[in-house]
Amino acid sequence: MKRTTESEILSDPGFSRAVIDWQRAHGRHALPWQNTRDAYRIWLSEIMLQQTQVAAVLGYYARFLERFPTVFALAEAPQEDVMAHWAGLGYYTRARNLHACAKRIVAEYDGVFPSDPALLADLPGIGRSTAAAIAAFSAGTRAAILDGNVKRVFARVFGIDEYPGIKPVEDALWRRADALLPQDDGIEAYTQGLMDLGATLCTRGKPDCGRCPLQARCVAHATDRTAELPVRKPKKATPEKRARLLVVIDAGQVLLEQRPGTGIWGGLLSLPEVEGHVALDDEDVPADALGVPEAAARFGSVDDCEALLPLQHVFTHYRLHIHPFRIGLRARAALPAGCQWLALADVDAAALPAPVKKLLGQLGQPSLFG
Ligand code: ADE
Ligand code: SF4
Repeated sequence: MKRTTESEILSDPGFSRAVIDWQRAHGRHALPWQNTRDAYRIWLSEIMLQQTQVAAVLGYYARFLERFPTVFALAEAPQEDVMAHWAGLGYYTRARNLHACAKRIVAEYDGVFPSDPALLADLPGIGRSTAAAIAAFSAGTRAAILDGNVKRVFARVFGIDEYPGIKPVEDALWRRADALLPQDDGIEAYTQGLMDLGATLCTRGKPDCGRCPLQARCVAHATDRTAELPVRKPKKATPEKRARLLVVIDAGQVLLEQRPGTGIWGGLLSLPEVEGHVALDDEDVPADALGVPEAAARFGSVDDCEALLPLQHVFTHYRLHIHPFRIGLRARAALPAGCQWLALADVDAAALPAPVKKLLGQLGQPSLFG
């Protein structure tokens, strides 16, 4: 018995039929890079459209072609001239790659773009999807595109509930894109149709499912999940760190130490810290007072050491669990470099990190430290 291949399982001739018929009736037909087989013009449009919307591209496209009407004109032009015609479009690597690509087309292909997507994808600035689009539009080559818009359409239609930005999911989407290609003809209308669908109906914000040719086979529509699909990039769990801070109090003053110039709170006055911040999943990090009086000994002879209530502070990149220890001194040592005493009454006006200020503010209560 013949085994069924994955490609056969994923194939669905009705899919490309629906996209092609819709594109011919309702898609875009009058864009300046359509109705031509000129690979130079198609290539230029696809590069400009990689990270820029159609409306913003139109004027640049016309001016660019006027100044550089052929791949030879572009290849011969000085770099500054090319950059000047790109100025304002953004993502300038595209312009540098464009110029380099034109030179290679002239040097290696006598100015004629290849129609094999694999050869196109080897050129600067042309990825797998762009190569397929250029080959399909300029030579009718049967090749699959998978840009951001198409990923969104596929994620919705097939109810892909994993983030499409990771390799295995993207690989699976490419296999689907290959399996769904029209068997015989219509690759141009199919390719343009997927782009038009993603740009005009199956938009990120509010897809217009009522007009969509894929509605009958769309999982997101059937299960009312168009707002959840495609799955957004998962947020990394916030790392948790722990810091033990010394609250050395003597005669109504608190001891502050200038932090090193780098890192969070860099250069600010803060409470002295026992060692550096340590990751919370590190097992040998005690939150207890082990070693704390010893660490405080450089400020004087320690009389008593008391754990205060811990507090948390959320930074952009991690959550810090602050374990403060109040240290009482019998006698002060010579003040180490970078350290100073500050009257508790002046804490409010001092430039201190917010959680340190909050902590010291609570200490200011005379009932605690009379
Ligand atoms: N975006 C990328 N390629 C496109 C094309 N050929 N037409 C419209 N939008 C596009
Ligand atoms: Fe997108 Fe709606 Fe069409 Fe599904 S039915 S592909 S969600 S526009």
